[in-house]
Amino acid sequence: TNRTFTMIKPDAVEAGYTGAIIKMIEEAGFRIVSMSKTQLTPERAGQFYAVHSQRPFYNDLCAYMSSGAIVPMVLEKENAVADFRKLIGATNPAQAEEGTIRKLFAKSLEANAIHGSDSDENAQIEGSFFFSGTEQF
Ligand code: GTP
Ligand code: MG
Repeated sequence: TNRTFTMIKPDAVEAGYTGAIIKMIEEAGFRIVSMSKTQLTPERAGQFYAVHSQRPFYNDLCAYMSSGAIVPMVLEKENAVADFRKLIGATNPAQAEEGTIRKLFAKSLEANAIHGSDSDENAQIEGSFFFSGTEQF
Protein backbone atom coordinates (compact mmCIF):
# COMPACT_ATOMS: atom_id res chain seq x y z
CA THR A 1 0.00 0.00 0.00
CA ASN A 2 1.19 3.50 -0.68
CA ARG A 3 0.01 7.04 -1.06
CA THR A 4 -0.60 9.79 -3.55
CA PHE A 5 -1.67 13.40 -3.30
CA THR A 6 -4.54 15.03 -5.20
CA MET A 7 -6.45 18.26 -5.24
CA ILE A 8 -9.77 19.01 -6.84
CA LYS A 9 -9.08 22.24 -8.72
CA PRO A 10 -11.09 25.51 -8.61
CA ASP A 11 -13.11 24.88 -11.79
CA ALA A 12 -14.45 21.56 -10.50
CA VAL A 13 -15.12 22.79 -6.96
CA GLU A 14 -16.95 25.85 -8.35
CA ALA A 15 -19.03 23.67 -10.69
CA GLY A 16 -20.22 21.50 -7.78
CA TYR A 17 -18.35 18.34 -8.82
CA THR A 18 -16.58 17.72 -5.48
CA GLY A 19 -18.94 14.97 -4.33
CA ALA A 20 -19.07 13.18 -7.67
CA ILE A 21 -15.28 13.20 -7.95
CA ILE A 22 -14.78 11.91 -4.39
CA LYS A 23 -17.30 9.15 -5.13
CA MET A 24 -15.28 8.05 -8.18
CA ILE A 25 -12.06 8.12 -6.15
CA GLU A 26 -13.50 5.93 -3.37
CA GLU A 27 -15.18 3.55 -5.80
CA ALA A 28 -11.81 3.09 -7.51
CA GLY A 29 -10.44 1.73 -4.23
CA PHE A 30 -8.63 4.74 -2.79
CA ARG A 31 -8.91 5.45 0.93
CA ILE A 32 -8.97 9.11 2.00
CA VAL A 33 -6.17 9.68 4.54
CA SER A 34 -6.43 13.49 4.77
CA MET A 35 -8.86 15.99 3.22
CA SER A 36 -9.47 19.73 3.46
CA LYS A 37 -11.07 22.68 1.67
CA THR A 38 -8.91 25.76 1.29
CA GLN A 39 -7.80 28.49 -1.14
CA LEU A 40 -4.23 29.14 -2.28
CA THR A 41 -2.77 32.61 -2.62
CA PRO A 42 -1.02 33.21 -5.98
CA GLU A 43 2.31 33.00 -4.11
CA ARG A 44 1.49 29.64 -2.56
CA ALA A 45 0.19 28.31 -5.88
CA GLY A 46 3.54 29.39 -7.33
CA GLN A 47 5.39 27.42 -4.66
CA PHE A 48 3.28 24.33 -5.30
CA TYR A 49 3.95 24.48 -9.07
CA ALA A 50 7.55 25.76 -8.77
CA VAL A 51 8.67 22.93 -11.08
CA HIS A 52 6.78 24.72 -13.88
CA SER A 53 8.20 28.21 -13.14
CA GLN A 54 9.99 28.40 -16.49
CA ARG A 55 6.98 27.30 -18.54
CA PRO A 56 5.04 29.93 -20.57
CA PHE A 57 1.77 29.02 -18.82
CA TYR A 58 3.15 29.43 -15.26
CA ASN A 59 1.60 32.83 -14.45
CA ASP A 60 -1.79 31.79 -15.84
CA LEU A 61 -1.59 28.53 -13.90
CA CYS A 62 -0.86 30.33 -10.60
CA ALA A 63 -3.73 32.77 -11.19
CA TYR A 64 -6.11 29.96 -12.03
CA MET A 65 -5.07 27.74 -9.10
CA SER A 66 -5.63 30.63 -6.66
CA SER A 67 -8.93 31.75 -8.22
CA GLY A 68 -11.19 29.72 -5.93
CA ALA A 69 -11.43 26.96 -3.39
CA ILE A 70 -9.60 23.66 -3.83
CA VAL A 71 -10.01 20.31 -2.08
CA PRO A 72 -6.60 18.72 -1.34
CA MET A 73 -6.45 15.08 -0.27
CA VAL A 74 -3.92 12.39 0.57
CA LEU A 75 -5.05 9.00 -0.76
CA GLU A 76 -3.94 5.47 0.00
CA LYS A 77 -4.04 2.41 -2.25
CA GLU A 78 -1.70 -0.20 -3.63
CA ASN A 79 0.18 1.35 -6.57
CA ALA A 80 -1.45 4.68 -5.67
CA VAL A 81 0.48 7.12 -7.87
CA ALA A 82 0.19 5.23 -11.15
CA ASP A 83 -3.36 4.01 -10.57
CA PHE A 84 -4.54 7.52 -9.70
CA ARG A 85 -2.93 9.05 -12.81
CA LYS A 86 -4.86 6.43 -14.81
CA LEU A 87 -8.12 7.33 -13.04
CA ILE A 88 -7.76 11.06 -13.79
CA GLY A 89 -6.69 10.70 -17.44
CA ALA A 90 -4.52 12.84 -19.70
CA THR A 91 -3.60 16.44 -18.79
CA ASN A 92 -5.58 17.71 -21.78
CA PRO A 93 -9.18 16.53 -21.35
CA ALA A 94 -9.58 16.41 -25.13
CA GLN A 95 -7.07 13.53 -25.03
CA ALA A 96 -8.35 11.88 -21.84
CA GLU A 97 -9.86 8.41 -22.08
CA GLU A 98 -13.60 7.83 -21.65
CA GLY A 99 -14.60 7.33 -18.03
CA THR A 100 -11.66 9.27 -16.57
CA ILE A 101 -12.23 12.14 -14.15
CA ARG A 102 -10.80 14.72 -16.54
CA LYS A 103 -12.85 13.40 -19.46
CA LEU A 104 -16.00 13.70 -17.35
CA PHE A 105 -15.35 16.94 -15.46
CA ALA A 106 -12.50 19.04 -16.94
CA LYS A 107 -13.22 22.27 -18.82
CA SER A 108 -9.89 22.85 -20.61
CA LEU A 109 -6.18 22.02 -20.67
CA GLU A 110 -5.64 24.48 -17.82
CA ALA A 111 -8.91 24.08 -15.91
CA ASN A 112 -8.60 20.31 -15.89
CA ALA A 113 -10.53 19.50 -12.69
CA ILE A 114 -7.93 17.61 -10.68
CA HIS A 115 -4.25 17.16 -9.85
CA GLY A 116 -2.42 13.89 -9.30
CA SER A 117 1.18 13.49 -8.07
CA ASP A 118 3.59 12.09 -10.66
CA SER A 119 5.93 10.14 -8.31
CA ASP A 120 6.07 8.70 -4.79
CA GLU A 121 8.60 11.39 -3.85
CA ASN A 122 6.37 14.23 -5.10
CA ALA A 123 3.32 12.67 -3.43
CA GLN A 124 5.16 12.93 -0.10
CA ILE A 125 6.31 16.52 -0.75
CA GLU A 126 2.89 17.68 -1.97
CA GLY A 127 0.99 16.01 0.88
CA SER A 128 3.28 17.74 3.38
CA PHE A 129 2.56 21.07 1.66
CA PHE A 130 -1.06 20.86 2.92
CA PHE A 131 -1.17 18.42 5.85
CA SER A 132 0.77 17.76 9.04
CA GLY A 133 1.47 14.34 10.52
CA THR A 134 -1.46 14.67 12.94
CA GLU A 135 -3.95 15.17 10.09
CA GLN A 136 -3.54 11.65 8.68
CA PHE A 137 -6.16 9.03 9.46
P1 GTP B 1 -1.10 18.04 -12.53
O1 GTP B 1 -1.66 16.75 -12.01
O2 GTP B 1 -1.98 19.22 -12.21
O3 GTP B 1 0.35 18.24 -12.16
O4 GTP B 1 -1.20 17.89 -14.12
P2 GTP B 1 -0.28 17.02 -15.06
O5 GTP B 1 0.81 16.34 -14.31
O6 GTP B 1 -1.19 16.17 -15.88
O7 GTP B 1 0.31 18.16 -15.98
P3 GTP B 1 1.60 19.08 -15.75
O8 GTP B 1 2.22 18.79 -14.44
O9 GTP B 1 2.41 19.00 -16.97
O10 GTP B 1 0.95 20.54 -15.71
C1 GTP B 1 0.43 21.07 -14.50
C2 GTP B 1 -0.85 21.81 -14.81
O11 GTP B 1 -0.57 22.97 -15.58
C3 GTP B 1 -1.87 21.05 -15.67
O12 GTP B 1 -2.65 20.16 -14.93
C4 GTP B 1 -2.70 22.17 -16.23
O13 GTP B 1 -3.61 22.67 -15.24
C5 GTP B 1 -1.63 23.23 -16.48
N1 GTP B 1 -1.08 23.15 -17.84
C6 GTP B 1 -0.28 22.19 -18.36
N2 GTP B 1 0.05 22.47 -19.63
C7 GTP B 1 -0.54 23.66 -19.92
C8 GTP B 1 -0.56 24.50 -21.07
O14 GTP B 1 0.04 24.19 -22.10
N3 GTP B 1 -1.29 25.65 -20.97
C9 GTP B 1 -1.96 25.99 -19.83
N4 GTP B 1 -2.64 27.14 -19.82
N5 GTP B 1 -1.95 25.24 -18.74
C10 GTP B 1 -1.26 24.09 -18.77
MG1 MG C 1 2.07 17.34 -12.91
